[in-house]
Amino acid sequence: PAGARRGDDGALSVAGVDLRDLAAEHGTPAYVLDEADFRARARGFREAFERAFAAVGAGVDVYYAGKAFLSVAVARWAHEEGLRIDTATGGELAVALRAGVPGADIGLHGNNKSDAEIERALAAGVGRIVVDSLGEVDRVADAAARAGVRAPVMVRLTTGVHAGGHEFIATAHEDQKFGLSLAGEGASPAMVALLAILARPELELIGVHSHIGSQILDPSGFEAAARRVLQLRAELAAATGHLLPEVDLGGGFGIAYLPGEVPLEPGRVAKDLAGVVEGACAELGTPLPRISIEPGRAIVGPTTLTLYRVGTVKPVTLEDGGTRTYVSVDGGMSDNLRPALYGARYTAALASRRGGATTVAARVVGKHCESGDIVVHDVALPDDVAPGDLLAVPATGAYGRSMASNYNHVPRPPVIAVRDGAARVIVRRETEDDLLALDLG
Ligand code: LLP
Repeated sequence: PAGARRGDDGALSVAGVDLRDLAAEHGTPAYVLDEADFRARARGFREAFERAFAAVGAGVDVYYAGKAFLSVAVARWAHEEGLRIDTATGGELAVALRAGVPGADIGLHGNNKSDAEIERALAAGVGRIVVDSLGEVDRVADAAARAGVRAPVMVRLTTGVHAGGHEFIATAHEDQKFGLSLAGEGASPAMVALLAILARPELELIGVHSHIGSQILDPSGFEAAARRVLQLRAELAAATGHLLPEVDLGGGFGIAYLPGEVPLEPGRVAKDLAGVVEGACAELGTPLPRISIEPGRAIVGPTTLTLYRVGTVKPVTLEDGGTRTYVSVDGGMSDNLRPALYGARYTAALASRRGGATTVAARVVGKHCESGDIVVHDVALPDDVAPGDLLAVPATGAYGRSMASNYNHVPRPPVIAVRDGAARVIVRRETEDDLLALDLG
């Protein structure tokens, strides 16, 4: 987090809160979220995109992608900083509404929305429902007819652009479940859905949507996808006279997880994209659309560290004769699934003290009953790392708590917001009683 500092005595603090005190009061593991950092990143994205697109004459909306991490507090902060909220399920929608975000400032995604989710979204008056399949067109239109409203819809497109990290999080190549393809002989699936929407008076077709993947560090994929989406928009206008007012370019902006990694800089991507959108629209002879984006990871990821306590330290002799020190902490794959699921790499630092100058090659592992339960694959830690020490793993704000599980009946850790020297629990720690309450015997 931006507010992390090492004090004179060597201990880490975030936003003026000493992590030793925080651990003593709230226990470990805990996600520690720097509120000012979250707000600054949210505002930074909005301002960078507004500025870049204002320069070419287009308006912008930034939606915070709640899947990365959503709670009532963060939904409220994002909205206070001028962002809207992107939700992917009825559950995320409920959190945004509980935070007091007006329906008009919420979007709903999902490749398999239930009727209940669609009805709830319409009752809340969401600003847009992103349609993901042809069958959904009639389902949303029928629900709108039942509710007596006109539903604002977008169509999620599959642009064929393949970008981002692991295969499981790259979303716009053809052989996957999301969106409607631009490819195909004659009318593409995307065009068929757009025409079907125009034929239903209960639906207001506001735009098209493209999300090409996540943890993207090379902006060229966004640019290629934007060109294809704008091309389709021009084709629809030529065929029907309907010029789509909005285009969403999705999320996926990559962050730094390890020292030396360079994140995508919002100001630079915004400028590049504004240039591409302006150029493509000029070539196609269409006016500029209003642009929206949906960053999740880039806003919340870097704001949070996970604080663990070391339980056991065990040197292991490797086949090549070297040694590796296994440092076990009191959490693991239940609070951060990303290393096990995607081979994601993190780093760690001693948080309770500075530690000796000599280091050992360490692997930080969790407390779960499988060897893939790794928190940090490789990190140099002080060779005097010992039981009782606190370890901080940075950049765990996105897809950490939101993908946490209760594997081995481990209660999920709290999220503790720190700001101006004060800590506030925004999501409390689960208890064994919480878990047992679900078990009806
Ligand atoms: N919009 C849509 C339609 C999305 O599908 C996603 C992410 C986003 C926005 C936000 O993407 P972001 O800016 O956070 O990259 N669990 C995986 C990431 C899955 C992303 C799914 N969709 C991980 O931990 O890496």
